[in-house]
Amino acid sequence: MTTYDLAARAPATAPHYDRAHRAFHWTMAAIIVAAMLIGLYCAYQAPGTPVRRYLLEWHKSLGMTALVLAVLRIAYRLARAAPPYAERMGRLNHAAAAGAHVGLYGLMLLLPLTGYAFSAMGGYSLPFFWLFQWPRLLPVDKAAVPVAEDLHRYGAWAIYTVVGLHVAAVAWHQFVRRDGVLARMWPRRA
Ligand code: HEM
Ligand code: HEM
Repeated sequence: MTTYDLAARAPATAPHYDRAHRAFHWTMAAIIVAAMLIGLYCAYQAPGTPVRRYLLEWHKSLGMTALVLAVLRIAYRLARAAPPYAERMGRLNHAAAAGAHVGLYGLMLLLPLTGYAFSAMGGYSLPFFWLFQWPRLLPVDKAAVPVAEDLHRYGAWAIYTVVGLHVAAVAWHQFVRRDGVLARMWPRRA
């Protein structure tokens, strides 16, 4: 499928996110959705089972990768603004999109930080794909673990909700308004 097909009414030359923004977006979307699904599955497995232990190693490794990428991405985003929209959008629509995007960036930091905090304070592993352990920057503090764990769990529900709304909004733009919003982020050749 070419960019033009996806762009609906937006030609390939319409304003779009640059290559780095797009690479960050799709790489991180894949990593975060994988972390969300693995986290959800693990939440329904009894603690200590081999499958949960194994999948949590993946979950934590993906989550810490997301943290590093989120920091780089936010710095890049602050340096390079988003492109203008091809079509005029209402103020409410703009505010909703901006709010959802800020929320997504916030959750991209909150989830890995709370996950890191409760794993570090609980004395649990902090792996990076069986290659090394991340430094343990917080002392073991069993009393504080439930606080960070609860924040991670509430954050998880928030990210399911905001990602769901984000994808629904993109679908609405693509199939109802047909204003080429998806094409702004879609991979393109040049
Ligand atoms: C983008 C990053 C992350 C996302 C989106 C994410 C998401 C989730 C989700 C959806 C759950 C299931 C929560 C539930 O429904 O109860 C979960 C659980 C968990 N997460 Fe994360 N997480 C991330 C990063 C991390 C990191 C970096 C760590 C640790 C270093 C971590 C450690 C855990 C652990 C140990 C659980 C199991 C909690 C339990 O069942 O008691 N997470 N995470
Ligand atoms: C199938 C899934 C997804 C699709 C189709 C999609 C599509 C898009 C599109 C078209 C935009 C541009 C919106 C605009 O110009 O107003 C965008 C922006 C954004 N997306 Fe997604 N997205 C998906 C999943 C995700 C996920 C899982 C995350 C992170 C958890 C995410 C985070 C963001 C952020 C933070 C922006 C704002 C970019 C900026 O202006 O800095 N997206 N997405």
